[in-house]
Amino acid sequence: MIITKSEREINLMKEAGRVVALVFKTLEEKIHPGMTTLDIDSIVEKTMLDNNCIPAEKGYYGYPASACVSVNDTLIHGIPSSKIVIHEGDIVSVDIVATYKGYSADACRTYKVGTLTERANRIVDITKQAFFEAVKLVRPGAHIGDISEAIQKFVESHGYNVVREYTGHGIGSHMHEDPSIPNYGRSGTGPVISKGMALCIEPMVLEGRKDVRTLGDGWTVKSKDGKLTAHYENTVIVTEDGYEIITMYEGEE
Ligand code: MF3
Ligand code: CO
Repeated sequence: MIITKSEREINLMKEAGRVVALVFKTLEEKIHPGMTTLDIDSIVEKTMLDNNCIPAEKGYYGYPASACVSVNDTLIHGIPSSKIVIHEGDIVSVDIVATYKGYSADACRTYKVGTLTERANRIVDITKQAFFEAVKLVRPGAHIGDISEAIQKFVESHGYNVVREYTGHGIGSHMHEDPSIPNYGRSGTGPVISKGMALCIEPMVLEGRKDVRTLGDGWTVKSKDGKLTAHYENTVIVTEDGYEIITMYEGEE
């Protein structure tokens, strides 16, 4: 069941989204070689708590941290650790959820640390562009499959693959609500989009084969072939005639 949100609920989600964006702005300035993924987690947690939000990932199905920090061949759900050091040339995705007065916003950025190889640079750019290709189609009357097809076509036309096992999703008073928003599919299929829906659109992209594996920690998802991966996500509210992205800061590219 897809739950559309009232104006009051959307305003609470916008405040959560503002704080998510503030975390990204803070990280943009602070991520540097030599820091650990646990250092990133601390910045995420402090920024959220300082701004009256709860880091919603902590404790979610037992997840132990405030952020998912996934480096290079880790696609999603990387558990922050003092043993994982970030190096020049790494691509580091930070996926976070803030909850304000019971309502959540969820987004992810893949950061480029220092000078990248052409390979690393390109997968990050394509993943982000895939989001913007898809979000353009969001408006009342469109189908979820329109988003899915746009992501898949864009990503595959550039020689990359989309993950099959994980999808975007609705969001609100729960981190994960209907509808599921796969990164692959066909336009004109799936649920019809309507005003007041809150959607997390999140291309998860693999440089090599589409297959992934989960580590023994039960969370960390890596590419099976060890090749690079990237992830980009925003929470989007469906408006009268289009959409509004609520997890970007002003001036963010
Ligand atoms: N933010 C993730 C998503 O896009 C969820 C992370 S799972 C958690 O759905 F356990 F870390 F919360
Ligand atoms: Co999400």
